[in-house]
Amino acid sequence: MSALLCTIVRQPSRSKSLHQSSKAINRFVKLFSSSVPRHKGLVLGVYEPNSEEGEFLLTPAAQKFNEHVSGKLKRVLKGTAGKKLKCGSSRVLFGLEETDFTSVAVVNLGKQDVDFDEDEQVYQGKENVRTAVAGALRLLRDAGETEVEVETCGDAQAAAEASFLSLHSFDEFRAEKDRTPSVKVTLFSEEIEQGSQVVEKWAKGEILAAGQNFARYLMESPANKMTPTIFSEKVGENLSQLPNCKVYIRDQSWARSMNMGSFLSVAKGSEEEPKFLEIDYEGGKSDEAPVIFVGKGVTFDSGGISIKPSANMDNMRADMGGAACVAGSLQAAARLGLPINIKALIPLCENMPSGKANKPGDVVTAMNGKTIQVDNTDAEGRLILADALCYAETFHPKLILDVATLTGAVMVALGAGVTGTYTKSEPIWNTIHTAGMITGDRMWRMPLLKYYTKQVTKADLADVDNVGKKRGEAGSCTAAAFLQEFVSTKEWIHLDIAGVMINIDDVPYLGKGMSGRPTRTLVQFLELLSKQ
Ligand SMILES: *[C@@H]1O[C@H](CO)[C@@H](O)[C@H](O)[C@H]1NC(C)=O
Ligand SMILES: [Zn+2]
Repeated sequence: MSALLCTIVRQPSRSKSLHQSSKAINRFVKLFSSSVPRHKGLVLGVYEPNSEEGEFLLTPAAQKFNEHVSGKLKRVLKGTAGKKLKCGSSRVLFGLEETDFTSVAVVNLGKQDVDFDEDEQVYQGKENVRTAVAGALRLLRDAGETEVEVETCGDAQAAAEASFLSLHSFDEFRAEKDRTPSVKVTLFSEEIEQGSQVVEKWAKGEILAAGQNFARYLMESPANKMTPTIFSEKVGENLSQLPNCKVYIRDQSWARSMNMGSFLSVAKGSEEEPKFLEIDYEGGKSDEAPVIFVGKGVTFDSGGISIKPSANMDNMRADMGGAACVAGSLQAAARLGLPINIKALIPLCENMPSGKANKPGDVVTAMNGKTIQVDNTDAEGRLILADALCYAETFHPKLILDVATLTGAVMVALGAGVTGTYTKSEPIWNTIHTAGMITGDRMWRMPLLKYYTKQVTKADLADVDNVGKKRGEAGSCTAAAFLQEFVSTKEWIHLDIAGVMINIDDVPYLGKGMSGRPTRTLVQFLELLSKQ
């Protein structure tokens, strides 16, 4: 009997029939694998052949395994198992090996030595590893494996990122029996002996993925289970345990004493108490100015009196995506011990319609004394950020980065492909651009021009208007121009992440749901800054 009992093919992003076939395979495994007590899988990579008739090239780990099974892996790949094994797709092989693994997922990593792709503005080799490992792992999970070892595939960090990102699920409110099975993932034990560099990179990838998963968890949580109070407690509890982190949870009266009239005007429409979360991470020298991260934390956005249409309004539980990414990136930065000082400022509130809510045409006063005409109560993110930015400036930071699910307009302009990014600083732009190319999130520069500023500084009743005068035009750009009115430093960058908030099938190594993007890019950005 051939060593190859059964194979499944999975092309990337086509998984409908998968579930059924994996059920059949589960039965199959039970019949034939009585000698293997555990359900442990292995992920191995191969590179595309150099020519049409050529053979798949094995990674060093796959080579090792191939020797261990006396060349069976190579023989199997030469046969039907290797047919139509496209880049990013994997094949699960059963019975190759009897003692350690019930199954082996062989995944096509694409061409060897793929690096930076100029046209795509991304390190494509890393993305190939992430996509491949994620697909293979999900396949093994569906095949019933409860433990999996994953080889480095030439990039231990990317392999670990994909491993922990792809297995993330949100099942807190489901019955036990309906939850996604958990899988324990570790680095392929044969590679651990090669030296600590690989182990370190794997650990780093795991920390980055955990940071993004933390953001995804916060974003996905229903709004009644992730109020400003709960968010500040959950994040505060989590981060205060980490080295060099200090957490301050401010309340409404504090915000009042700081004259945050703009933030409070949004918060007062809701029965939920607003919170202002401040977190310090001191990984750098004590006299070094901090990098400030500001995250929009609207835990539910109904639109207020300018109420949103009801279709898909539930997604507005993730209107605290900026806050979540800031929390996740800080968690990762602290766990990595990055040598840099960071301060996170997170205004948290709900935007609701009520007898106390902002009304269109209302005028409110921000912390810096500027008056704002609130012509659309659904443009509330910029109102709460305005005060947070003013407050940020009081710390004389090295730079300020704000991140917010700010406008539907950025979704229209860029979709989920890239994050719309605004800054006048060339060095800051270069740094975030590089960070996004490494992580795969990708950042795209948008204009901060007087043209847009003029549209928000011609209010009928106040200094600025919270929506542009040319309605329906360049909404993401006018939002950025509005925020710019509340920062005096040029060392500022704004990320409009509304377009990347949800993952449908845009990023193959993330499941469906709230994406937690661009958490890893924020960490990468900090790491690059710490080396400058
Ligand atoms: C912090 O969150 C992570 C998940 O990102 C979790 O594993 C860890 O247990 C949490 N720690 C605390 C103290 O809550
Ligand atoms: Zn809104």
